[in-house]
Amino acid sequence: MTTNWVEWHNAYDDPTSGLVRRLAHVRRRVLTALRDAPAGEIRLISMCAGQGLDVFGAVAEFDRTDDVVGRLVELDPENVAAAKARGVPGIEIVEGDASVTSAYYPADVVLACGVFGNVSDEDVQRTVTLLPMLCRPGATVVWTRHHEAPDLTPSIREWFAAAGFEELGFDTEPGYSYSVGTHRLVGEPLPWQDTKLFDFVGKPFDGRRSPVS
Ligand SMILES: C[S@@+](CC[C@H](N)C(=O)[O-])C[C@H]1O[C@@H](n2cnc3c(N)ncnc32)[C@H](O)[C@@H]1O
Repeated sequence: MTTNWVEWHNAYDDPTSGLVRRLAHVRRRVLTALRDAPAGEIRLISMCAGQGLDVFGAVAEFDRTDDVVGRLVELDPENVAAAKARGVPGIEIVEGDASVTSAYYPADVVLACGVFGNVSDEDVQRTVTLLPMLCRPGATVVWTRHHEAPDLTPSIREWFAAAGFEELGFDTEPGYSYSVGTHRLVGEPLPWQDTKLFDFVGKPFDGRRSPVS
């Protein structure tokens, strides 16, 4: 079964969905990272950005909008169009492949939401290990992963620690399968390199359970 990544976003219209609850955490974590950023330009990137509800929701609450320079990378043209309809100046929406480092520039706020549930465990580890390449010093990464069995999130948190990040938060909620992790780079960024991070394989969505990933 192929997931329709436009329809996938419909769960954001259902106030009872896990995705809506996950979104509130992601927006709060991104907004906190923006507010904690020093004066001057703040660079933000989002991989597999979908319709950008997380970024645009956070930026709408931020009072230094003019300081935000962003790039959202999304493959699906309909999602790109929906993101552009919400767009704000300074944030570009790129229709393209988010799986390669060449899609990005080093940023202060990095979103990897809805990615780690759709790539192999090995690629999650590879991406986390290489994330310091996409980070400016002190950058904050906000990421998501469901924690259905077998729960990969304990390993993901270990991989972040091994890659030089400290954990700022790990948000979950009883009865829901989402997790939102927030990590700050305390080690050095990695030197830039053009490389592939992951293969986005997707996963079947049976339409019943909350399609968080
Ligand atoms: C699970 S959704 C997450 C969307 C968004 N980040 C969110 O959390 O609301 C995954 C998104 O990745 C996009 N996608 C899949 N493969 C991609 C690729 N290689 N490059 C960029 N985007 C991709 C899909 O079109 C889909 O919108």
